[in-house]
Amino acid sequence: WISEIMLHQTRVEAVKPYYERFLRELPDVASLAAVDDGRLLKLWEGLGYYSRARNLKKAAQRIVSDFGGRFPASRRELLSLPGIGDYTAGAIASIALSLPEPAVDGNVLRVIMRLTGCREDVSRPAVKLAVADALRLIYPAGRCGDFTQALMELGALVCLPNGEPLCDNCPWRELCRPRREESTGEIPAKSPKKPRREDALTVFLLRNGDSAAFRRRPKSGLLAGMWELPNVGGTLSEPAAFALAQEWGLAPRSIAPAGEGTHIFTHRQWNMTAFRIECAAVPDTFRWVDRAGFEAELALPSAFRCFLDALWR
Ligand code: ADE
Repeated sequence: WISEIMLHQTRVEAVKPYYERFLRELPDVASLAAVDDGRLLKLWEGLGYYSRARNLKKAAQRIVSDFGGRFPASRRELLSLPGIGDYTAGAIASIALSLPEPAVDGNVLRVIMRLTGCREDVSRPAVKLAVADALRLIYPAGRCGDFTQALMELGALVCLPNGEPLCDNCPWRELCRPRREESTGEIPAKSPKKPRREDALTVFLLRNGDSAAFRRRPKSGLLAGMWELPNVGGTLSEPAAFALAQEWGLAPRSIAPAGEGTHIFTHRQWNMTAFRIECAAVPDTFRWVDRAGFEAELALPSAFRCFLDALWR
């Protein structure tokens, strides 16, 4: 369960150390259900998509309250938990519970569409459901987890999305019609994606002595409730950023450009410009901590981490 949630949108190699540390610190459902939110986000810091961590804790609490502490035993029960959708329920049901339940993600969808030469639009939910229904019928009893894992690995390592798939290494090469017809590049067929929205942001690296300023993001929306470096929408000029720091009651002493950064989320991109400002006042609209305090206590989303060197310099 934990590994499938971590592996969502994240590579296996990146997940491994997080997974080991997480299980060391929270070895069972009861400890996860009771974990302090700050500690939880700290364990997740750097993995991104933090709602996954919050949903893990909520789900653990539900397992304790509604399932008597016993882990769900079916796909339907799994689906009732926060953070577990069709794909994850299938992955856990087949790999952890040995049930004939497919887990159809983009990789598996690509493998099956290519193998069958099907040119339906894979961005249609109905296509994914049809693939899941078809796979469910051929799940091999006793090897359900292996079958799920094999389909995932074929998609990730052999039937590659961009460029040439490695058909010579594919156990299904003789069955695959697009391979014979040299049309693997045309499948899967997709409708064009909406372009990702881009936001300009001005980020403030506010220092006072050894301390720097952080604040909490709003309780809902992107990176809800996470700590952040103070920022505003738009790209401010240096004088405008200085004026805003005055307005915030920071008694700014000096300002200097502190670089730029880009962060790409699923549906959004931030184009950030930073200024470093030495402040004489420390209004409590911000949380002021030194480097050691920051590292021990605050979980900062990856988007802002590109400015940490300039912040603590
Ligand atoms: N991504 C999501 N689940 C996975 C798994 N079980 N193995 C490899 N990659 C994955």
